[in-house]
Amino acid sequence: MFYRPEDGHGLPHNPFNAIVAPRPIGWISTRGSLGDNLAPYSFFNAVAYVPPQVMFASTSSKPDRDGTKDSVAQLRESGVFCVNIVEYAMRDAMNASSAALAAGEDEFGVAGVEKVQCETIDCPRVGGTPAALECRVTQVVELPGEANIAVFGEVTGVHIRDDALSDGIFDVMSFGPMARLGYKDYTRVENLFSLARPDE
Ligand SMILES: Cc1cc2nc3c(=O)[nH]c(=O)nc-3n(C[C@H](O)[C@H](O)[C@H](O)COP(=O)(O)O)c2cc1C
Repeated sequence: MFYRPEDGHGLPHNPFNAIVAPRPIGWISTRGSLGDNLAPYSFFNAVAYVPPQVMFASTSSKPDRDGTKDSVAQLRESGVFCVNIVEYAMRDAMNASSAALAAGEDEFGVAGVEKVQCETIDCPRVGGTPAALECRVTQVVELPGEANIAVFGEVTGVHIRDDALSDGIFDVMSFGPMARLGYKDYTRVENLFSLARPDE
């Protein structure tokens, strides 16, 4: 089949995010004048090495947040956010934190996760994750469409859990990172292969 998005896909569910998959999950923690916030975002990725930079995108809005969701509203105030990396064992807590709670309600409590203070920014992070990236906001970009907002950040601090490092390698097989597929589906990294580049 072929479709133009403006004409509709004609399928029971939009296949778009099942096509762009698997996507890593940025579990985004923020602090604002109303309190602390935590929510997962799978429109998320790393975008540069030096300095290290990441992005995530927020789509749609909450009635109490003036055209966006809590995470973007909070980081617009503070200028910082933290990306917590989700392991399979944290899947239920991550999912619980996606509930659309009222502004100011703290998903750390709802998800039952430990709150730890970041080192380089005034922001909470999730304790015990395999890794976390403390970030300073560099750009907030309004995208076409309603309430589509991309946030870019420079990484100012990197946490790696001791048991996720083996022989100097960040060993993803030790914890099984989760990624988002389409619909209600997820995947977990369970096997790995390597390829040398042609010029290596
Ligand atoms: C695995 C997962 C990935 C998600 N990815 C996104 C995303 O990329 N962008 C988005 O706007 N919402 C995404 N959501 C929905 C948000 O987590 C949800 O709207 C949440 O309530 C936003 O929280 P906040 O208002 O506290 O920022 C995702 C939800 C889940 C469970």
